[in-house]
Amino acid sequence: MTSFDRKKNVAIFISGKGSNMMALINDMKNEKEHPGQPKLVVSNNTKAAGLVFAEKNSIETFAFNIEKIEDNLIFEEKTLQVLKEKNIDIICLAGFMKILSEKFIKSFSKPILNIHPSLLPSFKGLNTHQRALKAGCLIHGATVHQITNKVDEGPILGQTLIDITKNSDAKQLEAKLLPHEHLLYKKVLREFLKESGKKILTIN
Ligand code: GAR
Repeated sequence: MTSFDRKKNVAIFISGKGSNMMALINDMKNEKEHPGQPKLVVSNNTKAAGLVFAEKNSIETFAFNIEKIEDNLIFEEKTLQVLKEKNIDIICLAGFMKILSEKFIKSFSKPILNIHPSLLPSFKGLNTHQRALKAGCLIHGATVHQITNKVDEGPILGQTLIDITKNSDAKQLEAKLLPHEHLLYKKVLREFLKESGKKILTIN
């Protein structure tokens, strides 16, 4: 190994298809010198398609459905326990559609990264593609940032930018952006784990 003592143990949190998760896992598995290794995939949805990919790649998974308010606490407590058992150094939220509590963030006490499909600080929250179109934006993009207690806020680590093609709809915009999200998240995670302090900007 080069500039680091040991590979950092990475947990990825998903709620659905997990294409960003796949990109991160493939990058860690394919690059010998990658400073991270995928150790755990967590989901708040036992039917998340991405879990199948994780299992096929021999990565441990923990999934728990949140059906009522009380389940939130159980999910977070159980998740914290698994994170501890696996000695996780960093969490990457990748299409994880649940807001983590202040208590969870504090208890984990290590970095948590998130990818959000907009050029933050614009369009925090949901339906970012529709909102960018409705606002008449000419550009759109995604942001990877470190999370804080405030939703979709926290230090920006990288952004990817795309142009909005005339007459495109939200689905088309989402599909156009997704592969650029994958590239962005891979680059940001590498730099973050190397502690290079380098931010990533890609313009497509
Ligand atoms: C991605 O576009 C990601 O940016 C977004 O969900 C999608 C998940 O796709 N995340 C959020 O909206 C979080 N607020 P994936 O499951 O294929 O990675």
